[in-house]
This record gives sequence, structure tokens and C-alpha cells, in this order.
Amino acid sequence: MNLKAYLESRRIEIENFLEVYYREPFEPAILYESMRYSLLAGGKRIRPILCLTAYETCGGKISDILAQASAIELIHTYSLIHDDLPAMDDDKLRRGKPTNHVIYGEAMAILAGDGLLTDAFRLFSKSDLISGDLLIRGINILSANAGIYGMVAGQALDIVSEGKDGDKETVEFIHQSKTAALIKASLIIGGILSGADSRYVGALSEYGENIGLAFQVTDDILDITGTTEELGKPKGSDDKKNKMTYPAIYGVEKSRLIAGECVNNAKNAISVFEEKAHWLLEIADYLLTRTK
Ligand code: IPE
Ligand code: IPE
Ligand code: MG
Ligand code: MG
Ligand code: MG
Repeated sequence: MNLKAYLESRRIEIENFLEVYYREPFEPAILYESMRYSLLAGGKRIRPILCLTAYETCGGKISDILAQASAIELIHTYSLIHDDLPAMDDDKLRRGKPTNHVIYGEAMAILAGDGLLTDAFRLFSKSDLISGDLLIRGINILSANAGIYGMVAGQALDIVSEGKDGDKETVEFIHQSKTAALIKASLIIGGILSGADSRYVGALSEYGENIGLAFQVTDDILDITGTTEELGKPKGSDDKKNKMTYPAIYGVEKSRLIAGECVNNAKNAISVFEEKAHWLLEIADYLLTRTK
């Protein structure tokens, strides 16, 4: 199987899981519709895929943790809904469709995000196959990296840095926090749930931190060089808001080199897995060449 087919088959497994998980409507219908609207609007599903790949690389069978991997996508989708709000990036297109608040209004978009974030922990915490002890360790990693030691902190700093002079340390902290932290957590969680020891989980963590940074640097580059149609979100959003990004500080070419260095670091970090690392190695390379 080539990487494209591998990613596609994993994406479909996550897609199917999410569709079934939210098949049963709940009240009020408007909240249910609004949550489903953004969650099932498409998306690469790269975070849950990385979680499954890490689990499999450590010897696990991916069907055991589809719920926990999918829970990470609920958190990611909530972050996108809130990121697009008028008070934040004020964007009107996401995953090729009008943003949640454009369809459902700001109040319901905020609540859809709240619903997805909270429900992620209901989904993550229930399993007949994974021990309670491992689930709790996973939840601890997830809540730290999605919250004040990760994404929420990064989003806060991203907002207060709008319009400010670029600063290399600050932009690295923003990107590590708002994006790399959740990607890193996805990999660590795959390792933890498999019962792997700290040498392997540590390798996944270092890999995740590096591809996570490369992922956001590439996102910044695509905001300049991509197309709205392919991205499914508005090109030029960062410029409009005067965001502190890698290309704003280093230029596009140097940013590409930095992303490339991160990918090399990521690949070096997982040598302990020897030949079992092959999907992780291929995914790292793909993150540099992606166009959406
Ligand atoms: C977009 O994430 C937000 C960032 C952290 C860069 P993705 O590029 O993974 O978006 P989807 O899930 O595929 O829509
Ligand atoms: C957002 O970064 C990261 C999140 C945690 C959602 P961006 O604001 O650059 O993400 P996009 O470009 O809107 O997807
Ligand atoms: Mg943003
Ligand atoms: Mg944004
Ligand atoms: Mg962006």
C-alpha cells in the first residue's frame, strides 16, 4: 500500500466512526446539527491517524482505540470552530463550507465547540479494551496539550501577538503550543494506550513536536502560496489579521527550510522503531509537500 492509500483508508475509518457516534440525535436539535455540521464537513483527520499509526507502530491493533483517536478529532474540530469566530480569525470558509457561525450564529458556534470539547472526554474515557489506568494517563496528556499547556495557550498568544513585530522565540512558542502540542499528544497517546515503555513514548513525543511545528509552518506558507479552493479556507487570512507567522518573520523560502529541518529531526527521533517506523517516516515527508 502506498501512503496515499494508507491515509485514505485510515481517514475513512475515522469518518465512519464519527458518523456512527453521532448518528443518534440529541436535544436541542440545533446543537446536534451544528456539532455534526463541522465535525463531518471533511478534513484530513491527520491527528487521529497519527494516534492510530503510533499505536500500530507500538504493536497495537487500531480497532482497539478508534474511540480515543476520534476524540482527538472532536477537540481539533472545536478548535477550528472557535478559531474562525469573528472575535478570533473572523473567517467565513472552513473545510470548503461556510464556517459554523455563518450558518448557526455565533452563540451556537461557541456552544458547538463547547459540546465537542466536553464530549471528547466522554468518548475517550470509555473502553472495554484499554485499562482505566492507561485511559487516565491518556486523558492527562490530552487535557494538558489541548489546554493551558498547549493549544489554548497558543491561541491566546496568537491573538495578543496580532500586529506586533515578529519575534522568533514568540512565534516558535505560539506554533509549538497552538498546533504542535495536540499533534504531539496524538502520538504520545497512541504510545501510552499500547502500553509502550517510556523510551518509545519519548521518541513519539519528539517526533510529534517536530512534525507539529513543521505542520503549522507549512500551514502559514500555504496561507500565502495555496489556493482558497484547495485549502477549503480563505487564503490570506494571516495577512488580513497581521498574524505573527514564520513567513512573516523569515520569508517563504527560509520557512520551507525550517519546516524541512523539523521533519529531519522528527525522522531521526524515531530510529528506535527501526523498520516499524516506515509509515511515520513517510507521513513526516508528506507534511512538507501537502497542498491542503
Ligand atoms: C488546521 O488544521 C488548523 C491548524 C492547526 C493548522 P488541519 O490542516 O489539520 O485542518 P483539517 O482538519 O484538515 O480541516
Ligand atoms: C490555528 O491556526 C490553530 C488552531 C489551534 C485552530 P490558524 O488560525 O493558522 O489555522 P487555520 O489556518 O485557520 O486553519
Ligand atoms: Mg488562528
Ligand atoms: Mg485561523
Ligand atoms: Mg493558518
